[in-house]
Amino acid sequence: MTLLALETSCDETSAAVVREGKILSNVVSSQIALHAEYGGVVPELAAREHLKNLLPVAQSALHAAGVSVAQLDAVAATQGPGLPNALLVGFKAAQALAFALNKPFVGVNHHEAHLYSPWITGGSGMLAADFVAFQPNVSLIVSGGHTMLVLVASDLKHRVLGGTIDDAAGECFDKTGKLMGLPYPAGPVIDRLAEQGNPAAFDFPRPLLHDANDDFSFSGLKTSVRYFIRDHPALLDDRKSVCDLCASVQAAIVEVLVKKTIRAAKREGVRCVTASGGVTCNRALRRELEKACHHHKLTLRLADKTLCTDNAAMIGILAERKLLAGMPLPLIDEEIKPGWVLA
Ligand code: KG4
Ligand code: ZN
Repeated sequence: MTLLALETSCDETSAAVVREGKILSNVVSSQIALHAEYGGVVPELAAREHLKNLLPVAQSALHAAGVSVAQLDAVAATQGPGLPNALLVGFKAAQALAFALNKPFVGVNHHEAHLYSPWITGGSGMLAADFVAFQPNVSLIVSGGHTMLVLVASDLKHRVLGGTIDDAAGECFDKTGKLMGLPYPAGPVIDRLAEQGNPAAFDFPRPLLHDANDDFSFSGLKTSVRYFIRDHPALLDDRKSVCDLCASVQAAIVEVLVKKTIRAAKREGVRCVTASGGVTCNRALRRELEKACHHHKLTLRLADKTLCTDNAAMIGILAERKLLAGMPLPLIDEEIKPGWVLA
C-alpha cells in the first residue's frame, strides 16, 4: 500500500510517502524563522505559510519517493489537535485528493502519531517502522505544545496516563529563555548554553515531582525563574552565570520529565520507554533518560532527532497501520478537530 500523508497542525509543513511501513520520503518545511520575529507561532501567518508551501512540499515528497499521484492507494492527514486554520490546509487538501482519486482517506490524531515516531528507524535514507521490535511501553511526548505520558499497551492501543495542567515543557524552555533575553525558540539555545553551565548552581522547583499522578505543571517553574531574574538582574550580564542559569532550569525540567516517566513505566509494568516531540532533541534529556532506563533495566527508544519535531512520516506510518487493521475510516465529510484530546 502506498500512502501520501500531510501534516500542517502547527508550524511545520510536511508531506511523506509511506509504503508497507517504510518511509520513501519525508519532506519538512519549517516556519521557525518566520515566527521567531514575533517570539512565538502566529496562527494566521502559519496558515498562510502552509497554503504557500503545501503543494511544493507534497510535490517534492512524491518526487523524492518516485511515486506519482496515480500510484497512491490512500491519503492521510493530521485531523487534530492543532491550530484550526493550519490544520484546515493539510486536512482539506488530503481529503480533496482522496476524493478526486476515489481512494480511502485517513484523519489522524497528531499525538497518537507521535507514539509511533520512536519506532521509525534507519537514520538517513529509507527509514522503516520497526514493528517487529514493538514492546508495550510508556511514551513521553514533549514539545512546545504538549507534555504527556501515554501507556501504549499494544500496536494501536493506548491510554493517556497524564499531561500538563498548564505550560508544556517546551513552552517552559521558550518562556524562561525569553526572560533571559534568548531568541525564540529558546529550547535549543538553552540546550547549547547549559552544556557549559553548572546544573546545581541555582535551585529551582521540580513541580509535581512527588505527586502520585502522571501530570505535569511548568508554569510555577517559569514564575520562579522570573522572580529569580528580577532579584538578580546582574546575572544576565555575565556569560558564565547565564550558562549556569540555563543548566539549572534545564536540570529542573529534565528531572521532572525523567523521574515521572520512569515511575509510570515501573508502575504500569512495561519494560520499554519511548520519547518524541521537539524537546526530545534536548541532549540532557536524552542522556538522563538513557541513564535512568539503564539503571532500571528498561529499553529506551528515542525518536531520531529528525523525527522528534513534527513530521508527516509519523502520520503516514500510523495511518497505514489503521488501514491495515481495518479500522473504521472517517467519512469524506469529516472535519478537523482542533481540540481533539487523546484518550
Ligand atoms: O515538536 P515541536 O517542533 O513543535 C511543537 O511544539 O509541536 O517542538 C518545539 C519545541 C519548542 O518549544 C523548542 O524550544 C523545543 O521544542 N526544543 C527544545 C530543543 N529543541 C527543540 N527544547 C530543549 N532542547 C532542545 N534541544
Ligand atoms: Zn507534535
